Amino acid sequence: MPRLRAIAKIGEPILRQPTQDVPLDQLGSATFQDLIDDLIATMRHANGAGLAANQIFEPWRICVMEVDGNPRYPYKPTIPLTVLVNPLLTPIGDETFENFEGCLSVPDLRGVVRRHARLSVRAYDRHGCVIETEVAGVTAGTYQHEVDHLDAKLFVDRVTDTSSLCTWAVFRRDHEAGFREHVRSLVETYGS
Ligand code: NI
Repeated sequence: MPRLRAIAKIGEPILRQPTQDVPLDQLGSATFQDLIDDLIATMRHANGAGLAANQIFEPWRICVMEVDGNPRYPYKPTIPLTVLVNPLLTPIGDETFENFEGCLSVPDLRGVVRRHARLSVRAYDRHGCVIETEVAGVTAGTYQHEVDHLDAKLFVDRVTDTSSLCTWAVFRRDHEAGFREHVRSLVETYGS
C-alpha cells in the first residue's frame, strides 16, 4: 500500500540539495518502486500537478506529474500520469512564455515565471525504459518546474518581477481570468 508522505516546505535543506541519479540496476527494487508509488499517492492526495522526490525528503532524481481536472489548476491541459527517472530537459529553440506557478512546497504563494516553450525530454520510466519525447506549452512549464526541484531550484528563484507574487486568494480574485485566457492561447499555439 502506498504511504502518504510529508511534503517538505520552503526552507527545508533537502529542497536545496541537487538530487542523485537513480542507479538503474536498482530501479526495480521495492525501495524505488515503493518510493514511486508514494510519490504518486502523495501528489494525488495534495492535488498537485507534479511532485519531485526531494519534496518528500527522498534524495533521488525522480519526479511524477499528472493533470486531469485538477482542482488546484483547473485551466491546465491534461497530462497523463508520467514518471520521470533521471530526467534531462533540453530547450528547443528560444521561444519562452510567462507561466503563473504555484508549488506544494511553497504554501499559498503564486508568481510569474518565464519558461521555455518547447523541450526535448530524455528520461527513463519506472521500468527503466527510455523516454525520448518533446513537450510544449503549459505542459513544458510543468516539466521544467518539476525538474527544477530535482536541480534544487524553486519557482520563486525564477520570479523576476517579485510584484507578481501573490496568495492563491488574490490570484483567483485578480489574475485567474486573465491567466485562463493566456493558457487558452498557449494551448492553441503549442497544443498543450
Ligand atoms: Ni513545486
